[in-house]
Amino acid sequence: MSNIIELQDLCKEFKDKRVLDNISLKIPVGSIFGLIGPNGAGKTTLIRILLGLYRPSSGSFIINTQHKDGIKKNIGFMLHSTGLYPALTCYENLALYARIYRLDKEKERIEDLLELVGLQEYRDEKAQILSKGMRQKLVLARAILHNPELLILDEPTVGLEVEIKVWFRNFISDYVSEGKKTVLISSHELSELEKICTDIAILRKGKIVKEYNKVDLMETSLEELYLKSGESDWQ
Ligand SMILES: Nc1ncnc2c1ncn2[C@@H]1O[C@H](COP(=O)(O)OP(=O)(O)O)[C@@H](O)[C@H]1O
Ligand SMILES: [Mg+2]
Repeated sequence: MSNIIELQDLCKEFKDKRVLDNISLKIPVGSIFGLIGPNGAGKTTLIRILLGLYRPSSGSFIINTQHKDGIKKNIGFMLHSTGLYPALTCYENLALYARIYRLDKEKERIEDLLELVGLQEYRDEKAQILSKGMRQKLVLARAILHNPELLILDEPTVGLEVEIKVWFRNFISDYVSEGKKTVLISSHELSELEKICTDIAILRKGKIVKEYNKVDLMETSLEELYLKSGESDWQ
């Protein structure tokens, strides 16, 4: 299977502090790839490098997307901060990005997405009145406006209620179900990831300490694998 992302000996330092330490990783096309690890492990830094927001200090990475207009048009993302404009309506928040992506049939696409994420009733409400769960759904709609091949989600369901977590999980499974799309998701929600991920990498102190695939996950619970991967921290 081909890989959509390949990282080779990637390092990131902030001043003298090494935050990512020789990361080599392959993310297959069509996978739901979970990145897990304690706070401060480097998950967000890795994601920000992939999005071109930070430069690696050394090493390299490639993103193999097919889109003729280049990589950026083929990646959708959700970061910790929503980046929503609180005084704009749901529709307007999406329309702004539709223009950035120069979408054809912008109006139809936005209406379809509002329906897909269950926000059509809130179409003309300002983003500031939305609950946290609704806001995350709007951000997700924005992330997939341009139907990207690669979706990168940094803890998309942190602090959300169970119903919305389940909704996100189903959404992500559906998104990759045709086999052409890939999702990279960082999360602390081990039980959520266990249900949907085809591959998991555990990041601790800037290093990939373990990688697992679906078969490993069928045999042992992710919680058990995760705790095992950190055992040396306790010794
Ligand atoms: N812009 C930055 N400048 C300096 N240090 C940073 C910066 N971003 C992250 N760090 C540090 O890098 C480490 C990893 O952070 P982060 O990637 O946010 O971890 P995670 O997402 O796994 O919680 C932390 O020690 C954090 O303080
Ligand atoms: Mg983070």
